[in-house]
This record gives sequence, structure tokens and C-alpha cells, in this order.
Amino acid sequence: MMRRSLVIGNWKMNGTRASAESLAQGIIAGLGADIGDIAVCVPYVYLSSVAEVVKGSRLALGSQNVADKASGAYTGEISATMLKEFNCQYALVGHSERRSYYGDTDASVAARFVQAQTQGIIPVLCVGETLEQREEDQTFAVIDQQLNAVIDSAGIAAFNNAVIAYEPVWAIGTGKTASDEQAQEVHHYIRQFIAAKDQAIADKVQILYGGSAKPDNAKGLFAMPDIDGGLIGGASLDAESFLAVYHSISE
Ligand code: PGA
Repeated sequence: MMRRSLVIGNWKMNGTRASAESLAQGIIAGLGADIGDIAVCVPYVYLSSVAEVVKGSRLALGSQNVADKASGAYTGEISATMLKEFNCQYALVGHSERRSYYGDTDASVAARFVQAQTQGIIPVLCVGETLEQREEDQTFAVIDQQLNAVIDSAGIAAFNNAVIAYEPVWAIGTGKTASDEQAQEVHHYIRQFIAAKDQAIADKVQILYGGSAKPDNAKGLFAMPDIDGGLIGGASLDAESFLAVYHSISE
């Protein structure tokens, strides 16, 4: 089955309003032929200005998180309804930096996933093991737990409108990329895990690789049968390198 490729930039906590706008402009200017979907997950406060820039283009907009509640007394949180107002098509949920620095738990990640979908926003569920867990052969057990937390509360059918990002924590921002084969092994595992519950969804769900993906290594990763694109941090902060990653999509 041919799945459409998807490349998402995760700008994290970087840039200024002006640099955010010009980065989005630079990406749009270099998009070229429609070989797959492309999006940028920008800091909340820049959604409004970047939404203006991407209007009418095929560069989609996303957020880096979403609240686990619909509305109310949750100081500092941003709801899915608010994100929808700025045409966010995607929301990252469960990024490892959220899990490790800000205490996002499996339960809250599941609730964020559900909240995104209530507004038709596609959650990009990030999963992945730490170096220690990999060395202890816990990779698949960690993935099982992170996926099950969401499947148990949202149901497998929710993955009709979701993206999964495999991001080995040891590869994020470290310059260490998983080899093509290491990444493929886990992507295949994830697809089989979903297939055991629903084959049609497994065939269709996009599974992205993230963790020091860059122009040099994207082609090899994207050529793997179960890797449908990438979630790109550092290399997404420069239009030229982000576009080079996007253009590494195998046609
Ligand atoms: P990186 O980040 O590409 O800088 O490793 C990826 C991510 O955290 O999504």
C-alpha cells in the first residue's frame, strides 16, 4: 500500500516572530513539486503570524503540544479549540522533551491525543526509548506501553486520523541517528503492533522517524518500507536544510 509521505518540522523553543515568518516564507518558496505532505510545528505565540504566512500554500501548521482538557482553570495551557482557530492541522503529543522535562505522563498524553481529535486536529503521537532502555532490551516494551496508553483510552479506530512518530530519545538533538535498519526494525514493530488490532489501519497509518534526521541521512531512512517521513528538529530551523530533508522523500 502506498502511504503518502509526511515531513514535519519541530521548531521547539527557537526563533523570534520575524525569524519564524521568514523561515515559513523560505520553506514555501522552495516547496516545488507535491511529493508529500509538509508541516511545521511552531511555538504557540507564533501560530498567528505563521498562519498568515502559510495561508494558501501547502505548508501545513501544527502545534508542539495541546492541553489534556477542553477548557477551564488550567493556567498556562492551550486548548485544541484555540489551536483550531489558527488552522492547526497537527499537534505533537508526548514528545520526549514533554515527557521528561514537563512530566507529561502516558495518561495525559492519551488525553491530549483525544483532545486534538475532538477538533479534527491530527495528533502526532511521539514514542521512543531512552538509551538505557535500549541497552536493557526494553525498546519494544516501552513502545507497547506508550501505544497501549493511547489505544486503551482512544480506541484503535482513532489511529485512522493520527500519525505516529518513532523518536529514540538517545537520537534526539544528539547528532546520533538510528541506522536505517535500527529505525526500520522499530517502525516495522509498531506497524505489526497496530496490525494485530486492525490491519487496515496499520497499512494506512503514517509512521515518522525523528532523532537527528538531516539532509545527509534522510534519504536512506525514508527509503525504508515502514518509514513514511520524518519529524525534524534541528534541521528544520533552516529552510534550505528542511527542504533538503523534504526532497529526500522517495517517490
Ligand atoms: P532533532 O529533534 O531532529 O533535533 O534530533 C527531533 C525531535 O525532537 O522531534
